Amino acid sequence: MKVLVVGGGGREHALCWAIATSPRCKALWCAPGNAGIAEVATCLPGVGAEDLDAILDACRAHAIDLVVVGPEAPLVAGLVDRLEAAGIAAVGPSAAAARLEGSKAFMKDVLAEAGVPTARSATFTDPAAAKAHVKDRGAPCVVKADGLAAGKGVLLCETEGKALAAIDALMTDRAFGAAGDCIVIEDWLQGEEASAFALCDGTTAVWMGAAQDHKRVGEGDTGPNTGGMGAYAPAPIVDDAMAGRIMTEIMQPTVEAMAARGTPFKGVLFAGLMIDDTGPTVLEFNVRFGDPECQVLLARLDGDLLDLLEATAHGRLADVPAPRWQPRTALVVVMAARGYPGTYEKGTAIGGLEAAGAVEGVTVFHAGTRRDAGGTILANGGRVLGVTALGGSVKQARARAHAAIDVLYWPEGYCRRDIGWRAIARETATRPES
Ligand code: AMP
Ligand code: GLY
Repeated sequence: MKVLVVGGGGREHALCWAIATSPRCKALWCAPGNAGIAEVATCLPGVGAEDLDAILDACRAHAIDLVVVGPEAPLVAGLVDRLEAAGIAAVGPSAAAARLEGSKAFMKDVLAEAGVPTARSATFTDPAAAKAHVKDRGAPCVVKADGLAAGKGVLLCETEGKALAAIDALMTDRAFGAAGDCIVIEDWLQGEEASAFALCDGTTAVWMGAAQDHKRVGEGDTGPNTGGMGAYAPAPIVDDAMAGRIMTEIMQPTVEAMAARGTPFKGVLFAGLMIDDTGPTVLEFNVRFGDPECQVLLARLDGDLLDLLEATAHGRLADVPAPRWQPRTALVVVMAARGYPGTYEKGTAIGGLEAAGAVEGVTVFHAGTRRDAGGTILANGGRVLGVTALGGSVKQARARAHAAIDVLYWPEGYCRRDIGWRAIARETATRPES
């Protein structure tokens, strides 16, 4: 099989790394890819992940059999619709199904239809009506832009005043442009967050694991939001019983509701969950793997990812054996360029990558790198590396990731040293010897 992966971050490096090990993978391309991906795939640096025409041309030029789409933007823009119209199989939802991530109001409608637990909410396109609702319901509440806002369109409002200001920012000042012309106002839920993943082929959903990530830039989960500074899997709060509930109460009913609407969901369904004593509640859906969650999910996969992806694209997930997972914990520590998520420098040199990758249990995924003419690896983005380690405990996995980071030479980079703190505290309480 000839496979093309779309994207150029750590998630796509993990996808390529796993696909490349399949005996059925005859050739692997990545558009645009990065310096780490170039070690396992042929990169197409001139083909951007959002350049739909160029991706279609590349598929024809290389006789691609299967396209795996990493990020949401090309999905929402209709890449999979165009590929399928051209007779090319793809893993990812149609534009109509990608609205589960692209529109929070749409997602809320589908969840209501499917009877999936989610925060009580109301949708508004008129700021005056939204404000009247806030005055009526009171605070705290969460105000969300309907559309894609680079993870910044969710405003947690402790007071009525903050909620009214949030409505002004989104709807009147249009801080996120058209994404905020429609908003959702919902209950502020309490509990522990986790991310759950399922591969879906339109009718069947297959469990791909749960992870927890750290979105804030600072230790102790403080400071501005980022794309994710680290993650670990499994999520201790998602035991087998909870995974079963997530599949039967959330994933499967959502897949059925999407099929009933005539927009079957095919690809990766990523549920952002709040979990409390009563069970799991959906905060949001994404229509792709998380980054860096993908790195830790795939690090634990025992088996052939390509078989699963091919079955996803062709509606045959019910026929393939369920994936098996290593009993170990995987943890990823993201190394970012100093200044991220604000302004940062590009082009600084990174040394010690080979030594880091040689630490027991460690794989270094590249998120934003390029190789210069002399062969030096240079930082080429905000999030630059995902140092991923397997271990017998969360603590051991993190110690291995840190050991790898300590042999890297990259003075212009930084990372959080407390990834997994919640899980490690839990481990220490229950298994003090670990
Ligand atoms: P979202 O983009 O919808 O996942 O929201 C980003 C973050 O905002 C989530 O990871 C949660 O931490 C938080 N959040 C979103 N909705 C709620 C809610 N209803 N209650 C509490 N926290 C929320
Ligand atoms: N790490 C969060 C996301 O990929 O959306």
